[in-house]
Amino acid sequence: MSSVIVIAGKGGTGKTTVCALITLMLAHRAGARVLAVDADPNSNLSDALGLSAVGTIADIIEEVAKKPDIVPQSMGKDSFIEYKIHNDITENDGFDLLVMGRPEGPGCYCYINNVLRNVMAKLVSDYTFVVIDNEAGMEHFSRKTTRAADNVILVTDESQVGLRSAKRILGLIEELGIVAKKKFLVVNRSSGSLDIIEARREFAVDDVFVVPFDKDVQDLSSKGLDLASLSKSCAAYLAIQDMGDKLWPKN
Ligand SMILES: Nc1ncnc2c1ncn2[C@@H]1O[C@H](COP(=O)(O)OP(=O)(O)O)[C@@H](O)[C@H]1O
Ligand SMILES: [Mg+2]
Repeated sequence: MSSVIVIAGKGGTGKTTVCALITLMLAHRAGARVLAVDADPNSNLSDALGLSAVGTIADIIEEVAKKPDIVPQSMGKDSFIEYKIHNDITENDGFDLLVMGRPEGPGCYCYINNVLRNVMAKLVSDYTFVVIDNEAGMEHFSRKTTRAADNVILVTDESQVGLRSAKRILGLIEELGIVAKKKFLVVNRSSGSLDIIEARREFAVDDVFVVPFDKDVQDLSSKGLDLASLSKSCAAYLAIQDMGDKLWPKN
């Protein structure tokens, strides 16, 4: 059984960092097959993980929409797109990465989105964990390329703006009818100033976790370095590991 973990939250709160740390932590587990999905066009999940992406799903969608002739007749559109997507997955030590990208230009992508949905559903079953760095507006959900999640992790910082956004996204999840089996709040870059007991009470989530402000994370980021080299004993990684042990216990 695979677990789909969606990371959501306002840009700047540390969504990509949390997503990358969860990916690295799960990839470290023996026997786990992990797929990280960069579903935020403004994101840099591949940079955070220290990878250069081969291509994006948006590129494939664009290419097939503009040049239907590139699809070999023997293959059919669906299989061709599926083949291209498999080709685009960057394979790494312990995890794979898929980048959605941003479709450019006009045109109806309904058909291709349908194919994408099917491919995603098949892809998911190949992995133990699928970790998605999602757009703040939950667009992939509204386009229904992802329909259900086992866990939605809302990332916020300690600011009121971050907390309000997390609440708004929770409302959006309701509105869009997204099936999320469990929802969690991660208070990231914490200095300990937020009342966690109050947050537990205020947010309709299954649990609240705290990831402290970590100078190592900030230093790597300001040097333009990825998180793969982050020490496994630093505060942020340990917090993510504790959360992971609780949410996805090793069997
Ligand atoms: N726990 C943390 N401790 C210190 N810095 C952090 C932490 N989490 C994120 N950051 C930093 O905050 C900035 C924004 O993080 P990022 O993950 O890119 O946010 P988002 O994806 O939400 O836009 C980055 O410079 C990142 O290194
Ligand atoms: Mg980001």
